[in-house]
Amino acid sequence: MSETAKITLEGKTYELPITTGSEGEKAIDISKLRAETGCITLDIGYKNTGSTTSKITFLDGEKGILRYRGYPIEQLAEKASFTEVAYLILNGELPNAKQLQEFEGNIRYHSLVHEDMKRFFEFFPSNAHPMGILSAMVSSLSTFYPKSQTPNRPSKDVERTIYRLIAKMPTLAAISYKYTLGHPTMYPNNKLGYVENFLHMMFGLPTEEYVADPVTVDALNKLLILHADHEQNCSASTVRMVGSSQANLYSAISAGIAALWGPLHGGANQQVIEMLETIRNDGGDIQKWVNKAKDKDDPFRLFGFGHRVYKNFDPRAQIIKKSSDQILKRLGVNDPVLDIARHLEEVALKDEYFIERKLYPNVDFYSGIIYRAIGIPTRMFTVMFAMGRLPGWIAQWKEMVEDKEPISRPRQIYTGANQRNYVPMSDRG
Ligand code: SDX
Repeated sequence: MSETAKITLEGKTYELPITTGSEGEKAIDISKLRAETGCITLDIGYKNTGSTTSKITFLDGEKGILRYRGYPIEQLAEKASFTEVAYLILNGELPNAKQLQEFEGNIRYHSLVHEDMKRFFEFFPSNAHPMGILSAMVSSLSTFYPKSQTPNRPSKDVERTIYRLIAKMPTLAAISYKYTLGHPTMYPNNKLGYVENFLHMMFGLPTEEYVADPVTVDALNKLLILHADHEQNCSASTVRMVGSSQANLYSAISAGIAALWGPLHGGANQQVIEMLETIRNDGGDIQKWVNKAKDKDDPFRLFGFGHRVYKNFDPRAQIIKKSSDQILKRLGVNDPVLDIARHLEEVALKDEYFIERKLYPNVDFYSGIIYRAIGIPTRMFTVMFAMGRLPGWIAQWKEMVEDKEPISRPRQIYTGANQRNYVPMSDRG
């Protein structure tokens, strides 16, 4: 008899099956709860609720473990390329040399965007935030590829859409950056690798060839890998939710970009640098700002700190913190906010408020320091997060489609007015 959980409601006891994952995690399966008991569960923000089963990413918040398809993030960040990790996350296995070459070839083939899309950029205000542009442009890709809109599309179309998204995201990101500068946009150079090509489109000019520093390429490769997936976070759940209505993949990814933009989620990496600069410009009184973060009456919070799942260290933050030193040294960059970040971490981690609430630096706390050191402007930081997370979003969507999951439609507990009759205007006082 498989394991069960018992609940007693109004004197009646019900048995609910327990599901156990491959890493021993347990869940009470409540799929039949309402039919059997008339009750639903309530879990605002889904803090204790599993929305699916998944084979893509495993993380253990207490132990600071993160693995993509079983491979530890530390090994992948150290030894793999981003396209290799994207292949792994999408297909479940590491590619051999031929598979990787074919995968990268398909991506390169789709790196251009339709020339008509360039006209869209002209109509955004010059100070438009790149995340607003990216979300709009990714959604509009669906209008250029109508075949991607048929819900039960044959897998060839899905595969092409996946290549198009991974190939065009860097191109769209670089174009949005060039427009903010008023610079001519750069076409992809398909002789270059994925990361080098992005840097070429971002920092290259028609007047002079841009040759990426290998340290910069390695740093960006590592950062993209560290952001590639993170199981059912806010934006990945958004992609699954939108995809569950059989809306096309471009629309689902555009929704994921919008969710990631929030300052409590991926938008935190931009907020962290702005916070560190505010602290520096305010004279660098770290304790003052830590006290503000603890003050319930003060809206200020320590961006880059805390996490819904990691109640110990975020393994990605550890890897980024360690490599930020080497990268800045090898690039000859001395960034005063790095010292402020370190000092802030040191003070916060000794403070009872943070210790009690198990608040540690998360992936966003140090990433901005590296982005800045390699020349990425602050308002592009969350775009970089989206570029890294794209394979993860697509894999989550693909798994949801392949598992034939139903349309997502949560329940609620109504707490509003009970039935009452319409009052004519004349009687409303
Ligand atoms: C990402 O889910 C993922 O996997 C996300 C992500 C991914 O890879 O997809 O890891 C990426 O989004 C990382 C998180 C980036 N966001 C930030 O750095 C923003 C600052 N952090 C917080 O807003 C917060 O910690 C969250 C949003 C990350 C987590 O929020 P929770 O789980 O809802 O926790 P909570 O807000 O209920 O906080 C618990 C307590 C509260 O105090 P009490 O009411 O118990 O007194 O801790 C406090 C909070 O006020 N708290 C903070 C804090 N984070 C939590 N207080 C000050 N500064 C903070 N940063």
